[in-house]
Amino acid sequence: MKSRDGGARRIHADHAAGSFPKPACVVEAIVSAAARLHSPGRGAYRESLEAMSVVEGCRAKVAKVLGASDPSRVVLAAGQTDALNMVIKGAAMQAVRLGRAAHVVATTLEHNAVLRPLKGLETWGVTHALVPPRDHAVTPSDIEAAIRPDTCLVVMTHASNVTGAIQPVREVAAICRSRGVMLLVDAAQTAGHLPIDVDQWGVDALAAPGHKGLLGPQGIAALVLRAGVEDRIDAWREGGTGGDSASARQPQDMPGRFEAGTMNVLGAAGLAAGAGHLLSLPLGVETVRLHGVTIANAMLTAARTGRLGEFRVIGPLEAEAMVPVFALRHPRLDPAEVAVMLESNFGILSRAGLACAPLAAGGPALRVSFGASTTIDEVATVVAALECISKI
Ligand SMILES: Cc1ncc(COP(=O)(O)O)c(C=O)c1O
Repeated sequence: MKSRDGGARRIHADHAAGSFPKPACVVEAIVSAAARLHSPGRGAYRESLEAMSVVEGCRAKVAKVLGASDPSRVVLAAGQTDALNMVIKGAAMQAVRLGRAAHVVATTLEHNAVLRPLKGLETWGVTHALVPPRDHAVTPSDIEAAIRPDTCLVVMTHASNVTGAIQPVREVAAICRSRGVMLLVDAAQTAGHLPIDVDQWGVDALAAPGHKGLLGPQGIAALVLRAGVEDRIDAWREGGTGGDSASARQPQDMPGRFEAGTMNVLGAAGLAAGAGHLLSLPLGVETVRLHGVTIANAMLTAARTGRLGEFRVIGPLEAEAMVPVFALRHPRLDPAEVAVMLESNFGILSRAGLACAPLAAGGPALRVSFGASTTIDEVATVVAALECISKI
């Protein structure tokens, strides 16, 4: 089979790293913004004002997808890593500034975008505890037991980017509220894959990247902050905001206080289109979720019935407990070699190694991951390829 551009068929089985292909409306929105718009919030001329309205439109659409009733609570960051650093380091910075001891609770499932900032904060005297999962998901009571009187923040991924295991963020949100501790949810693998309702769940902060399930481009992410939470995070990125330029201090308005610097308007245009695409689906994000469960069932059934050969799934064995991200191990084959064979012999794009989450799966694995645009036919091709490679 040939791809749209006439080349050999390529199957993108690396949606956990970024969705592909993007919906046509996303590509069109980016191209149109590049052709028409100037820097947002910097001039009073039409091209700048229109760019600002694209940014505001992006906030509104993303807020709707994530269940935030107030778009002004949506900070647009320069990516997921940036959004996570904003909260982790901002909360720690405030504690240190106020002379308080600071402690953070996270899990062993976290991405390096969480683990490395936490490691770096040790030099400021900020300590942390990493809670391991039981049977791939952390137990809320284990998180509660790790909270100390000086804990200022709990950070947890909503689903592992290695095993796909969904984590109990709603239950943890309730615990954090009762203990007066801020909760930051890393929704890198769930935004656009699972229905999310930040307002109803009582989550303090939730970060969602533009380029994965939200179907937009790289280099932009949304950070949703519950009202009042902004005062518990120091804004460490300071600079121009396009207004109040005589003031030596960073303006304190939301979301501007966290958005110093020229906004990525092409990213905002693409992210708005991606979020709009999700909202246009018959059941919104639930449509993607149902598809994700179907894909997960197809993969798990293949594993159960021996159609993945000797590849073993490291992760949940129930489709409802996961997003369609699979860590696979083979008794003899090196994951990196399998990834090369998948691409060179079958045109299948996968990921091998630790996937930036070194503690999540007990060592390197092959990761195949799927998304809204994945067809069941593509999943069947991946299964057949793995069975074939397994016999080598
Ligand atoms: C769970 C998780 N958190 C954080 C990140 C970091 O995202 P980015 O590299 O886009 O900043 C990723 C990226 O794969 C991820 O899967």
